[in-house]
Amino acid sequence: MSLTIRSGEICALMGPSGSGKSTLLSVILGISDPTAGSVSVGGSLVNSLTVRERAALRWKSIGSVQQQPDLLPELTVLENVELPLVFDRALASTATQRARELLSAVGLDGHEDQRVDSLSGGEAQRVSIARALSRPGLILLLADEPTAALDRRSAQRVFDVLRELSASQGVGCLLATHDPFIADQCDEIQRLGDA
Ligand SMILES: Nc1ncnc2c1ncn2[C@@H]1O[C@H](COP(=O)(O)OP(=O)(O)O)[C@@H](O)[C@H]1O
Ligand SMILES: [Mg+2]
Repeated sequence: MSLTIRSGEICALMGPSGSGKSTLLSVILGISDPTAGSVSVGGSLVNSLTVRERAALRWKSIGSVQQQPDLLPELTVLENVELPLVFDRALASTATQRARELLSAVGLDGHEDQRVDSLSGGEAQRVSIARALSRPGLILLLADEPTAALDRRSAQRVFDVLRELSASQGVGCLLATHDPFIADQCDEIQRLGDA
């Protein structure tokens, strides 16, 4: 496959279960190595970086969202979104404000102090998107079937949030999905494993 993800655009990654969607995302993250070919993120050739450099690239440039939102249950909604900011000295002082703005952008005003285990699946996924995009300067968001566990309405809401945030922050998004209704709304569709 040859694939270019542009800033602010969403590319759907489709293919049957086991076709390698998650594997491709892990190659782009620099967690797995490709047997052939190469991946470049923001001009950095991921395959040629050391483990430490890959970790730095992920931290600086790549956000990621899984099918099951892996929020920390000990923390509130707001604290979950603040978490990637408080580790960064330059961002820590404005972490709360930024997290509140993001939660508002994903339609979760008023849920700041809620425990994450009392959120619906769709709400939890929107929190995980806010968290994934909390650090400014990201260029790529990798989303692995983020709507697969949701009903149509909640899935659409999650997609709308992805669309708005990736456009407003100029982040390119690669979205693995089985759902043709979601894929049809993306800027581009790439298919795996149906040769
Ligand atoms: N860590 C791993 N080690 C070995 N094989 C794996 C590993 N992860 C996935 N696979 C295999 O790679 C193939 C693609 O899996 P995956 O990328 O998870 O597909 P998809 O996300 O499209 O369902 C499958 O045959 C799977 O069993
Ligand atoms: Mg998968």
